[in-house]
Amino acid sequence: MYSREIQMQNQQLNTRATGGRFNGVKGLQSSFILALSIAASVSITLHASDTEMKTSDKPPAKSIEKAIQAKDALFATLSGRLKEVMAADGPVAAIDVCSNEAASITQSVGNSMGLKIGRTALRQRNPKNQAPEWAKPFLEQTTQKPVFTRLPDDRTGALFPIKLKAQCLICHGESMFIPQNVQQALKQNYPQDRAIGFKVDDLRGWFWVEVNDEDSRQTKDQSNTWFQYGEMHRVIGQKDHKGRVRLGDLTKQANVYAVGAMEGLHGEVTILDSVPYVTTRHTENNLGANPITTDSEATLLMGASVSAWEDTPFESTLGPDKWESHLEQTARANHLDTDSPILFRMSGHFRNTAVHVINGACPIHAQLHGEELAPDEKPHQQTFDTIQGTIVGVFAKASSGRLTHPGTSVHAHLIYQSPETGEWLTGHIEQTSIMKGSTLSLPKL
Ligand code: HEC
Repeated sequence: MYSREIQMQNQQLNTRATGGRFNGVKGLQSSFILALSIAASVSITLHASDTEMKTSDKPPAKSIEKAIQAKDALFATLSGRLKEVMAADGPVAAIDVCSNEAASITQSVGNSMGLKIGRTALRQRNPKNQAPEWAKPFLEQTTQKPVFTRLPDDRTGALFPIKLKAQCLICHGESMFIPQNVQQALKQNYPQDRAIGFKVDDLRGWFWVEVNDEDSRQTKDQSNTWFQYGEMHRVIGQKDHKGRVRLGDLTKQANVYAVGAMEGLHGEVTILDSVPYVTTRHTENNLGANPITTDSEATLLMGASVSAWEDTPFESTLGPDKWESHLEQTARANHLDTDSPILFRMSGHFRNTAVHVINGACPIHAQLHGEELAPDEKPHQQTFDTIQGTIVGVFAKASSGRLTHPGTSVHAHLIYQSPETGEWLTGHIEQTSIMKGSTLSLPKL
């Protein structure tokens, strides 16, 4: 009942806030690809229909679809991160990031989608990027087309070729394209590097994916496809808060849920079922829902596309130091992998709730570092004895500092109706209790 109400309000807010101006924006995946100037590495349009079938035993369409989604998600995350570091700190720093983060990003995409994924090549940079056994014959044939093949134990294997682009030359091209300091960094990190000397359009390597067919049958379309733009410590700690993603690009996609901050840290953004809520501090004691245009950009945004939910009621009221562990236990009981980020939703009544709306600088960061914020950068802070609303959040135990503030495993936003003006607003939760009878919703596997 309550969620119907909020849903309808959402629709109204959406129409009012956007004025129907979202147009001409492509789907999430294609806009990822358009938006990323670097690393647009897959050269073929990947539809199950125009791919080469290597075996007569055709893999299930659902598994193929899931493999493509996983490849797209890994591609978007890796190239987004690469682009970000290249722009901010240059290629030498980017090599560090690749060598420190490529493996864990790959692992976390695999975990969050419940499958195995990796990158490989005939001429490898990192010898750990081995192809699985089944893929080796295809590698030897240097297959240039996506391959989907049936594996033992009801699994599907997929290979997607990766072509070299101009922007890869600086780290994979012929030596005249690779600056001296980059060559040095590569030698240091990868003494056995064989991944140089490529030309534009050369086949650089492949993404490989292994999907369990049973899992993909149970998975309703693309539940739980994780995405992330910016990281806490870069955006907030290093004050690098440029725009990183257009809200209009994300909210064209169905079932999107996310939390983050707007460009320049001017306000909070929460996306609930593909409807964006943006709130900024207007004057000292005055918040406002902000009109969202096609071009509004977030500097930090993390979330997932979730199409099916598992609801669990709160049997008792849980205090601020209790509900995180309750959430973790419930996630485990639902067989979610708590080492990967998990998107959650809570609706109902909340007590002793403190929220802030960021205004150019982060109050939690300032507090942790004993800094005083300038008056024109002070956030709007508000507390409610009780408030009704919906919380959208990310549970990320293993990513404290990257997805959440140090010392907490949750990054959560409240969507609520302003008691003063009746406007629908959103704020970053500093503290709250969850009252008995509220509902916790977690992605359904
Ligand atoms: C800043 C330097 C840099 C740029 C630019 C770069 N790469 Fe890499 N690439 C690396 C590093 C470092 C690794 C090794 C990562 C690891 O340790 O797993 C790597 C690994 C890979 C691998 C995994 C297989 C292997 O050889 O270990 C592929 C595939 C790949 N890169 C393709 C690309 C493509 C395609 C582009 C351009 C879109 C690109 N790279 C741009 C530095 C770079």
